[in-house]
Amino acid sequence: MRRAALVFALGLLSACDGFASCFYDTIAKPEMLPALEPLDAIGGLSAERCAACHAEIAAEWSTSLMAAATTNPFYVADHAHRHELFLCERCHNPLENQMRDVVDDLASLDPLTGKGHPNPRYDPALEREGVTCVVCHASAEALGEARAPTIVPGERAADAPPSPHPVAVAAALDEHGTMCRRCHQYDPPFVGLPRPPADTHAEYDRYRGAGGDKTCLDCHMPRVEGRVANTSPLRSRRGHRFLGARDGAFVAAFVSATAEVTREGITLVVDNRAGHHVPTAEPGRVLAATVELVGGGATLASRRVRFRRDFDPEHLVERYDTSLAPLEVRRVPVPFTAAQRAAAEAVRVRLDLYRYEARHPLALAAGIGEGALVAHVATSTVPAAEGP
Ligand code: HEC
Ligand code: HEC
Ligand code: HEC
Ligand code: HEC
Ligand code: HEC
Repeated sequence: MRRAALVFALGLLSACDGFASCFYDTIAKPEMLPALEPLDAIGGLSAERCAACHAEIAAEWSTSLMAAATTNPFYVADHAHRHELFLCERCHNPLENQMRDVVDDLASLDPLTGKGHPNPRYDPALEREGVTCVVCHASAEALGEARAPTIVPGERAADAPPSPHPVAVAAALDEHGTMCRRCHQYDPPFVGLPRPPADTHAEYDRYRGAGGDKTCLDCHMPRVEGRVANTSPLRSRRGHRFLGARDGAFVAAFVSATAEVTREGITLVVDNRAGHHVPTAEPGRVLAATVELVGGGATLASRRVRFRRDFDPEHLVERYDTSLAPLEVRRVPVPFTAAQRAAAEAVRVRLDLYRYEARHPLALAAGIGEGALVAHVATSTVPAAEGP
């Protein structure tokens, strides 16, 4: 019996090239998107080509983190720290044309290390474009289609100029972000975390289940009046700025905080109307509420309450999760003394969202100070006199 097991195990090992190789197919990983051919009539794949005719949309996209997915200093530092792990590239620069090496095997399981071969079709300029236009608009695999999307007439405006190329708006680019899921939800099995490391879509499903009526695109690609192509007439089209945690005014439209004053004390009340947890996914993000007692033009006392999901993405250990659930109204008593409260004229609540706090290892590695990494969301002030 033991011999049979041994023979079986040896057979399994000899079927793959080394021990780690046996596991390549079984580890949870987004797949690489097969290489795309330059599109006729566009003459390439670069966003610069698209920009020649879609100037407004390209300018919007270029300000988003998806355009900086391989170049932003935090990713660069983190990717280097993880020894350029191939897994990262499957979301940050997912097309085969964007990869220096094509990894289809493992050299080691712990630490996870890929094994591959140099890619003859590697296009370094395209790699620097990160999640570029053709990832979302031309890759059949990203869109879950049997073949590259061809022009689907759909609801085209009567006065729209004819499109010179077969890049179409595909079904998976729907309101609920069906195609966003492959990168914004990462749910590997056997991970000792209470929730998946990236959980934005499951959070969104709970938001919808709880009665939330907005979609990913309503919030992140709201319609704007503009030109679909340079030659198109002005009409309502999808914005491509993909605003998120870095834009205080955007966050303020969905997250707010105030203070309630009663005889018992002061309570911070934070309201999350975003379509997922706040913060969501990236564990470095921190929503911080600073509650201050003010009187005589001075700040008399101040307390800070932080909301975040703190886990180590490398070793997959969660320390705590105080992020706000979708549609949650969180009430947190803030401990000021009765004497401090008696001296105060008003209670001020300042809400900020940190991309990374000053002491975060990635902020230190990238050498970027906290001042450049915080978005001010809103400030609200209420009288310190007791309510009912
Ligand atoms: C030579 C000019 C030109 C280039 C280059 C070009 N486009 Fe277009 N594209 C157009 C025009 C014109 C339309 C139709 C505009 C309208 O509907 O008003 C269009 C429409 C589209 C649409 C909407 C299709 C639909 O079914 O409504 C998408 C998506 C698109 N382009 C993506 C891209 C991408 C991605 C690139 C770069 C890889 C690109 N385009 C390059 C001219 C161009
Ligand atoms: C191929 C993978 C991929 C797909 C598909 C994808 N994203 Fe992303 N997205 C990323 C990555 C990677 C980042 C972060 C880049 C960074 O900060 O390094 C990101 C960042 C974002 C951000 C933050 C942008 C900012 O500037 O703060 C938003 C919002 C977003 N994505 C929404 C979406 C939506 C909506 C969709 C679907 C329409 C989508 N994404 C599809 C990979 C993807
Ligand atoms: C399943 C897709 C996926 C994989 C795999 C992935 N990322 Fe990301 N990454 C994202 C998305 C999506 C974001 C956008 C932030 C968010 O969703 O909170 C992001 C954001 C980041 C950020 C924040 C950058 C910023 O601009 O603030 C860093 C750093 C990062 N990723 C590093 C890595 C590294 C290093 C790896 C490999 C060990 C990796 N990622 C693997 C999808 C992925
Ligand atoms: C993260 C995915 C993603 C990226 C990257 C992206 N788009 Fe889009 N794009 C979408 C989605 C989603 C829609 C909306 C589809 C719909 O409404 O049916 C869209 C719509 C469009 C449209 C049609 C606009 C309209 O409302 O009629 C054009 C044209 C377009 N994109 C061009 C581009 C160009 C050019 C780039 C790069 C500069 C780009 N897109 C990058 C996801 C993306
Ligand atoms: C009701 C509005 C709303 C909906 C619906 C919504 N979001 Fe967000 N999203 C926000 C707000 C507000 C923030 C900024 C606060 C935060 O980071 O959680 C944000 C932030 C993000 C970020 C940036 C995270 C970071 O740390 O940089 C990503 C990525 C994102 N959303 C993706 C999605 C995806 C994918 C969907 C659909 C599955 C979606 N969102 C649905 C409002 C929304």
